Amino acid sequence: MQDVFSGVVDLERSARQSLYRQLYEQLRGAILDGRLPAGTRIPSSRAMAAQLGVARNTVLAAVEQLAAEGFLEARRGSGTLVSAQLSAGLTRAARQRRSGTRPVYALSAAGTRLAGISRTSDGGETPRPFMPGIPDIGAFPAAIWARLLRRETQRLQPEALAYGWTAGHPRLREVLCAHLREMRGIQAEPEQIIITSSAQGALDLLARALVGPGDRVWLEEPGYLGARAAFSGAGARLVPVPVDAHGLNPNGKHAVPRAIYVTPSHQYPTGRLMPLARRLELLDVAERHGAYVIEDDYDSEFQFKGRPVAALQGLDPEGRVLYVGTFSKILQPGLRVGYAVVPSALAGPLGAIQRNTGQIVPVAIQLALAAFIEEGHLRAHVRRMCALYEQRQRALADGLSALFKGLLTVEKPAGGMQLIAGLPGKIDDTAIVARLAERGVQARALSSFYLGKAKSQGLLLGFAGYASEAIEAGLKEIKEILRSNTDGQPL
Ligand SMILES: Cc1ncc(COP(=O)(O)O)c(C=O)c1O
Repeated sequence: MQDVFSGVVDLERSARQSLYRQLYEQLRGAILDGRLPAGTRIPSSRAMAAQLGVARNTVLAAVEQLAAEGFLEARRGSGTLVSAQLSAGLTRAARQRRSGTRPVYALSAAGTRLAGISRTSDGGETPRPFMPGIPDIGAFPAAIWARLLRRETQRLQPEALAYGWTAGHPRLREVLCAHLREMRGIQAEPEQIIITSSAQGALDLLARALVGPGDRVWLEEPGYLGARAAFSGAGARLVPVPVDAHGLNPNGKHAVPRAIYVTPSHQYPTGRLMPLARRLELLDVAERHGAYVIEDDYDSEFQFKGRPVAALQGLDPEGRVLYVGTFSKILQPGLRVGYAVVPSALAGPLGAIQRNTGQIVPVAIQLALAAFIEEGHLRAHVRRMCALYEQRQRALADGLSALFKGLLTVEKPAGGMQLIAGLPGKIDDTAIVARLAERGVQARALSSFYLGKAKSQGLLLGFAGYASEAIEAGLKEIKEILRSNTDGQPL
């Protein structure tokens, strides 16, 4: 008996893991790696309990579990043995000896492309100035949300908790449809809305569903990395199309696209608005090429003067525009709700694909959101945030102009959550960003948004999520860093 256990079982009484679990795992491990070979006789439970100094029930529970899983078998007349079917050649140790010990963890080609575009760290850090794309998270009306979520959860009907409505609960689709018609000029029926876990979820869905390997997709240059990730994940050939003062310019000579991705309300990252004439040109070019237009309208609600310009989709209902929206910016990213509005002919197939991605938004969240919109809280929140963000944009832009007159060119968009402070060509924006990061200031380098060679250098600075004192403190850090360029030379 001593022989069976030596080097196999070593129970630790003070461990958090129960003695039963320790015994079970140690015996299992020893069988899998061949230390207890097939046919080894296991002592009786009474003898084992006595030897190990544990209750007999503990031993019985472990042995029974191992027998139920096929590691041990009871043989009449010979007691309990390591199962005879576990031939020595199949133990973990033997497998590792044969295959050169370690498994090979290889990503697919698509996996490699997707993993290669990493945008934020996954560490759950609190965003600090001037991380772009972050709304004022503290301003989110959490008490109202909690009340609605609780109420809607209590009212959930059994059919809502089964497998239905995976492309979106009908109530949210209806309420959102009316909201988008009113606020964004979207022309669609509720069935054309597919609820996703984010704009990224919608982009991924559209890329998978509409773009095949080798298809060309025009992307804004500079442009949004999330779109780059979605389309390159689908195997598309990415075609950078330069952005000018009016957004993506579709009139250049580029290979015929399958899809064109645009952010016409606030071009990301420049914040520029695509005027009507350019929108019509874009639709015309898309028509001639037979291409889809994917309109990402991520933060258009934040327009500081007048009302936001209506979405491109409304200029081409039932046409080739697929509209993508999100609650990440108007509410908060942690909510994880976005959507696509698609032509009615595509609603069925895209809904089925969304079901198969499994990235479905919890129904209680969908219903709380529907109530939040119905009861006017969304509108009120957007109104408050517009006023707040306008103030913060001004604080940042004025601070930049005052501190860096003549050095930085500040382009102040008519809305949105971030702006670009352009650097003179000789300064490497990635080096500045790295040095700012060392001081806890999170800017993004404009050059990093280019797929090809960067045409300009600058700092993309988010302002929406940060109080004016934090903005001021961040500006001081920028000043410190810009005092000397990366070679330590005074500017
Ligand atoms: C252009 C653009 N689209 C979409 C998003 C993100 O939306 P979501 O968080 O819903 O994926 C962002 C966020 O930064 C963005 O800048």
